[in-house]
Amino acid sequence: MDLFDSHCHLDPMRYLDELPEVVARARAAGVSGMAVIGTRAIDSEAAADLASREVGIVAAAGIHPNDVGEVVAGEWDRIVALAESERVAAIGETGLDWYRDHAPKDVQREWFDRHIRLAQRLSLPLVIHTRESIADALAMLREAIARGPLAAILHAFTGTAAEAAEAIDLGCHLGFAGMVTFRSSAQLREVATTVPIDRLLVETDSPFLSPEPLRGRRNEPAHVVHTARCLALARGCPPEALAAATAANARRLFRCR
Ligand code: NI
Repeated sequence: MDLFDSHCHLDPMRYLDELPEVVARARAAGVSGMAVIGTRAIDSEAAADLASREVGIVAAAGIHPNDVGEVVAGEWDRIVALAESERVAAIGETGLDWYRDHAPKDVQREWFDRHIRLAQRLSLPLVIHTRESIADALAMLREAIARGPLAAILHAFTGTAAEAAEAIDLGCHLGFAGMVTFRSSAQLREVATTVPIDRLLVETDSPFLSPEPLRGRRNEPAHVVHTARCLALARGCPPEALAAATAANARRLFRCR
């Protein structure tokens, strides 16, 4: 199988000196591509360094909505510098999180808007986190797309079929993470079957949300195979075909070889 983990956080703080083994296990499991996503300037820079060393790894630079209340002086300039350096393939992780109240809504909206405008200015795809906020995020994306083109990825999608349809109408790609494999997620699996194959992505969101049967353990890109198999089963297609199609989507979006 040829797999692409379209969303993982492989910052050295979380994996310490194990990172080479984590990448090796991913490759052994058929994961030839990984998008390593930043949440602050420091891990965005680490992601860009990893991407410069490893074939098939791309990086995204951004400040996570849960962290926008703690941005330090000069931090946004570092994100912009990374984005302009062509060392990153995407902008994010950005978005809106109404579940956690780490930062006020208006602050989160302002930072999401900044990331949207940066992605549009540099023609880079935007990696979006939503939690109990899909309708508001889609409204902001609709406004942005009225101004100009924007390639958006709704990562770890957990919305309804109607929300998925609206996102697809806006040209978004939808990433599915470990939650879709949980026994209790029959409805989400059903939603995943409605996504056109050319808009579908698989991801781990490592180190969080390990898929079944590894639930509860620290997640890593090698585990994306379980999510791909689960989606293939739900959609009634061979796992190899689903893996190849989602990997092709990720390579097209992140413009990798
Ligand atoms: Ni994430």
